[in-house]
Amino acid sequence: MVKPLNIVVLTGAGISADSGVDTFRDPDGAWMKNDPAKVATPEGFAEDPARVHAFYNARRAQLPKVDPNPAHFALTRLEEELVKVGGSLTLVTQNVDDLHQRAGSRRVLPIHGLLDHVECTSCGAIHTWAEDLSTDTPCPSCGETTMRPYIVWFGEIPRHFDEVEDAMMEAHLFAAIGTSGAVYPAAGLVSFARERGLPRVELNLDPSDNASLFTDNRYGRASTIVPAWVDELLDA
Ligand code: OAD
Repeated sequence: MVKPLNIVVLTGAGISADSGVDTFRDPDGAWMKNDPAKVATPEGFAEDPARVHAFYNARRAQLPKVDPNPAHFALTRLEEELVKVGGSLTLVTQNVDDLHQRAGSRRVLPIHGLLDHVECTSCGAIHTWAEDLSTDTPCPSCGETTMRPYIVWFGEIPRHFDEVEDAMMEAHLFAAIGTSGAVYPAAGLVSFARERGLPRVELNLDPSDNASLFTDNRYGRASTIVPAWVDELLDA
């Protein structure tokens, strides 16, 4: 059975790449085709909200067309097995798709928000949302047409970080899957894990920006290497 009882896994766009969701910094990634300053900052939204809505509407519309892949399901299986023996898997995800949740993962912390939610900048209400959003969309709570994607943009504070830090303090193992390590504070979790003396596994297509901070580096497609890693953990 699993030796590390409490595991924290950080995921990034690479885990959803095998489901057909574009990453950000790969050659065909979203930031290669769009300027993040224009579509992923509060200033870009203030300058041209319609442009920002169009970007996230297209990504939201993609959600029903994609499904979780074997890497998402492997993490669900790992969580189930850990919970059976009194442990936990905390899945800290930078992804705003809902593929971990749809794969059945229970303890998911979406630190960069969720595509299928929107937030009213007038009353603060948060709503689940499957449709397009526009500058004319009234908030179901207050009626103001000031809705924005429920996404953490550059310059904004990631969500759930207190819970992330609590989970890191309890963890026996840290893993990062499918992330370039370019965006903080998520990219700093491996250093936090190192300070705590935890084993640190990187599972990615290529070495990330902070690959040297990990104690175990495994490269390949997430849909192949993540199930293999989970099998190995569960057989240990
Ligand atoms: P990136 O696009 O920066 O990095 C994706 C990583 O996944 C790269 O290191 C790839 O090598 C790897 N990768 C690609 N395909 C893969 C596959 N099939 N299997 C395994 N790995 C694969 O995406 P993130 O690190 O998630 O934030 O980016 C972090 C944040 O930057 C995002 O959450 C987003 C972006 O700005 C916001 O939008 C707030």
